[in-house]
Order: sequence, then C-alpha cells, then structure tokens
Amino acid sequence: MDKEPAGSLCSEPSDSDKPMPGKCREVSLDGCRKIGSGQKGTVYRYGNELILKVYDIINTYRDVEREIALSRRAFVLGIPTAISFGIVSLGDRYGAMYELLGSETLSACIANNPSGLDYYAGVMAKLARTIHSTEAKEKDCFPDARDRFRAYITNGLARCDRELADRCCELIDGMQATRFLIHGDFHTSNVFLHKTEALAIDMDRLSTGDPIFELGDMNYYFDKGKGKDPEDTDPYLGISYRICREFLNLFMRHYLQTQDEARLREVTDRAALLGDLRRINRYWKAGALTEETQSKVDRLIVEMKKLLERVDSLDVIRQKQK
Ligand SMILES: Nc1ncnc2c1ncn2[C@@H]1O[C@H](COP(=O)(O)OP(=O)(O)O)[C@@H](O)[C@H]1O
Ligand SMILES: [Mg+2]
Repeated sequence: MDKEPAGSLCSEPSDSDKPMPGKCREVSLDGCRKIGSGQKGTVYRYGNELILKVYDIINTYRDVEREIALSRRAFVLGIPTAISFGIVSLGDRYGAMYELLGSETLSACIANNPSGLDYYAGVMAKLARTIHSTEAKEKDCFPDARDRFRAYITNGLARCDRELADRCCELIDGMQATRFLIHGDFHTSNVFLHKTEALAIDMDRLSTGDPIFELGDMNYYFDKGKGKDPEDTDPYLGISYRICREFLNLFMRHYLQTQDEARLREVTDRAALLGDLRRINRYWKAGALTEETQSKVDRLIVEMKKLLERVDSLDVIRQKQK
C-alpha cells in the first residue's frame, strides 16, 4: 500500500532513512507467532510481554522512528496506549517493540459479540472524547490534520474536478487551527478493549485538528460496501458492512451525546464529505483511474455535490458553540 504524506514533526528524530551503523539491534522472528496485521506491516508476539511490529519494506527507519516518537508523545500526554520499547531490525526491514496488550481489538469484540455493539460504540466514543480533549503543547508540533486532507484533494479530487476541489479547499481553509489532538486512523482494529477501558494503538497519524477529521476517517472506514451484500464481511475490519454502518451510527450518537436527528445529520454530512475525499484519493493512488474506479469516483462526485448543497462549513467544535 502507498504511503501518505507523513506531515511534520518539529524535532524530527533523524534525517536519514537508515539508522546509524550499530544503532539498531538485529532480532529474529524464530518461534514468534503472528497475532495481527494492518496497513503497514505484520505483528508478532515476542515473548510473554512484548509484540514486534514488522513494517513492510516500503517503510524506512525514519517512518518507524516517527511512529514510535508519536506514540511516546501520546503516552506522555495521557492518551491510553501501548508503551513502546524502541526499534529493531530484521534483515532489510525494521520493527518496533511494544507492550503486548493482552486483550482484544474492538473489531474482534464486535465480530464475536455483535449484540454488544451499542456498548462498544460507547467505549470507542469515550476514547475519542479523551483524545479530542487532549491539548498538545506548542513545542510538540504535531502535524495539522488539515494538511492531510488538503493532500487528499491535491492527489485525488483536484485531478478530476477542479471546481469541486477548490470548494473543498475553501471549506478546509475556513477552519480554525487547534492544538487539540485527533488519532488520525481511528477504527476498531486500532482500539483495544481492556476490561472497560479502551486503548488506542497505531499512532503514526496522530495530529491536531477539529474532531470532524476523525469523524471523516471513521466515515471512510465504516460507511463502505455500497453496492455489495450488506452481510459480506469487510476484509479489513472483519465485520459485516451492515454492522459497520450500524456501529458508525451508534458511535455518532454517543460521541455527540445527542439523539437530535438534525444535529446528527449535519455532522454526518460533513464527515461523509471528508470520507469521500479520502476515498477518491485512494482510487488515484494507482496513478491513474481504471474504468471501474473512474465510475466509482464519478458516483462519489455526484454524492459530494449533493452534500455540498447542505454543508457550508466543516468544524464540529465551532458549530457546537453557536
Ligand atoms: N500492542 C499490541 N498488543 C497486541 N496486539 C497488537 C498490538 N499492536 C498491534 N496489535 C495487533 O496487530 C494489528 C496491527 O497493528 P497496527 O499497529 O495497527 O499495524 P498497522 O500500522 O499495520 O495497521 C492490530 O489490529 C492488533 O490486532
Ligand atoms: Mg492499524
């Protein structure tokens, strides 16, 4: 999978894609059991207390160092997450050691017990509120989520509909800067449930921004499978498309702490617009559209135009204060 722009970190830990000679301990995967996989790599259990996240070859030493730096900052700021123990190398790949979370991801909890969906949505919403009320210090210099979405526009929508792209850019430019955090990749395979507490992992998109960006990412992950059988399983989350959509709906109610349909519609429309920007960016990652992806993009553009008849700003926070 292609990488997305990493964004900036003020005190970038290293300026090289390779470690200093001798800086990185070489380890072996002999006897290690695979326990998970994600967008960047494969995760193995390493002894009784650690996991080893082995990054796909496209990830450089600097990428791994950056993810560890972000998860350490998150930990220091009080966001519940796994403790990180540094970088190792495995031949031509790099790995990161983390504390083993001896519990299940929310994706697994939902797949095993769909009747608990409302409870899991509430737990995830509580974690989102914790992250979104965490304020970074100026010196922390997290990337700005607005830049990630601007990049989605430049690399995706702007290549097929300039006018619509300009309108979306205007909406993002009209948003306030904030030092409050968002996770940046907030889905149920990146959240663990430990007893009654949720913990977030996979911190490499931790950034500052209005929570609408988080909700836009959630729209991207949970509002999918259109045109497919709703009972089919989403291969990434391991949950059916129908349950993914129900989860998103319940999550929004818990997160916004409202049952007011007009308010829910307003925020859901904004999130859908951002989710569509990310979808179109993904289709363009191959470098060009195929006949199939072109027709998907065309459908998304029609959807976005309808959304823009109702959406005239994006922030969730500023709206709430009206
Ligand atoms: N600290 C951990 N303890 C236990 N399992 C983990 C831990 N970190 C990751 N995993 C498992 O590995 C999967 C992928 O990890 P993740 O860090 O999200 O990788 P990626 O960046 O490739 O998405 C998770 O969904 C989870 O199942
Ligand atoms: Mg992940």
